[in-house]
Amino acid sequence: MQQTILKTINDLNKWKKNIENINFVPTMGNLHKGHLELIQQSYKDGSNETLVSIFINPLQFNDKKDFKNYPKTIGKDIKLAFSSGANAIFLPSENEILNIKSLIYQKACKKLSSNLCGKSREGHFDGVCTIVLRMLKIINPKKIFLGEKDWQQLIILKNMIKELNLKVEVKSITTQRDADGVPYSSRNNLLTTSERKDLQFFSEELKKAKKSFTVNKAINLKEINKSFETKNLKIEYLQHLSAFSLNESIDKENITILAGAMLCGSTRLIDHVFLMKRKPIIAIDGPAGSGKSTVTKLIAKKLDFIYLDTGAMYRALSWFLIDQKINYKNVNILQECLKELNIVFKTNLNSDQDIFINNICVTDKIRSQKISSIVSSFASISKVREFLVKEQRKIGDKGGLVAEGRDIGTTVFPKAEIKIYLTASIYERAKRRKIELEQQGQEINFNKLKDQIKQRDLDDSTRNISPLVKAEDAIEIITDNHTADQIADKIIQIFYEKLPKEIKNDF
Ligand code: PAF
Repeated sequence: MQQTILKTINDLNKWKKNIENINFVPTMGNLHKGHLELIQQSYKDGSNETLVSIFINPLQFNDKKDFKNYPKTIGKDIKLAFSSGANAIFLPSENEILNIKSLIYQKACKKLSSNLCGKSREGHFDGVCTIVLRMLKIINPKKIFLGEKDWQQLIILKNMIKELNLKVEVKSITTQRDADGVPYSSRNNLLTTSERKDLQFFSEELKKAKKSFTVNKAINLKEINKSFETKNLKIEYLQHLSAFSLNESIDKENITILAGAMLCGSTRLIDHVFLMKRKPIIAIDGPAGSGKSTVTKLIAKKLDFIYLDTGAMYRALSWFLIDQKINYKNVNILQECLKELNIVFKTNLNSDQDIFINNICVTDKIRSQKISSIVSSFASISKVREFLVKEQRKIGDKGGLVAEGRDIGTTVFPKAEIKIYLTASIYERAKRRKIELEQQGQEINFNKLKDQIKQRDLDDSTRNISPLVKAEDAIEIITDNHTADQIADKIIQIFYEKLPKEIKNDF
């Protein structure tokens, strides 16, 4: 494998001419096992070439002494980067990167940088964003590899990439730790033995807090701080925040982060743990025929998650009300009937799910054309929705669930970790539905089917209660010309890319 050192942008541009796609690993040098893991992951990622940059960015140091003391080990770094799989190393001078008239000073998102390190390191994240944006513009990589140890940096950079609509995929790796549990950091080399012990204590306390959180679901910052005081640790901050919005209203997200910074002598170090009240939830909404059911089932199977088909619950209830001739228009009668209702899913011998309503198996009954044409009107009855949303939340109580419907991300599980809005053209959806009906021995005119689908969309999206709308934070995926497997894999990739890798062991 050819190993190239690029010292100027000119060198880089010449090298790029023969390269199709670049995986970019930005660093400030003094490479440790965390960096090497990033380089190795990039190398393993496929056919892209791995470019590692080593550039100590003066813009992200709010403390001049910290900048001056930042460890420099270029010779060793070059050897380590190449032996971990780098194809080229970019070693630009400060002049080349910063001394240009057109340098864009990129501000970090204010909301994401107002807590944690952003609080005490003024301008730090603006400096990081400025330099990473500059590098992305020069390099134009397909993927950028970043460590989750700097979680706030990762969230801020992901946000910048999204806001500026940059075409680069962000890949992250979990915090890499030494045998004593301390996360690898370039600044660890500056610690004395006793400072290292302090840092170890700090990391252990965070781990202990995580353990107790799994039992009582609460974090007592005062108590943790007290344990630091007994050891005379200099804590810069200790915060418990929502993991993605990084704000203090920790009830807004299921996954939270307990993160702190401490001063070991004059060296500042950070660590964190992630906490989860329940396992993650994937919410999949979208119109009929978008491929939701097949895709959701596949995801459930691949992740070993509970599969929740909320549409089937509305269909089952509609079937029941008609079959039992319940006078559902009378609110009192309907309410009495709902009190006695019991809807359960059970896995059958074919590993598919059957749905039972008051012990009657209605799996096939609810798929008739008749139920398809009336379910939307039943689903717009507020008492029906109230009842079923409650039931659905009960099923999702512990998470580890992938749910499909029309209001999962907006109403049923608004705190779902991943929200997907699946859709497809009317033509594609009608085509799929026709095949499905034919398999059940039902014949239907294609144009009539298209009209039915259009009408169903209109009914679902204009009803007063929980209309079919894309949640603000949902990712839209159009399923035309893709197999269900491809879409399921794409959603699983989105899921894993959003979640901190270290919580994977927690579910
Ligand atoms: O994480 C770092 O080492 C730096 O902040 C980065 C991303 C290389 C930007 O200078």
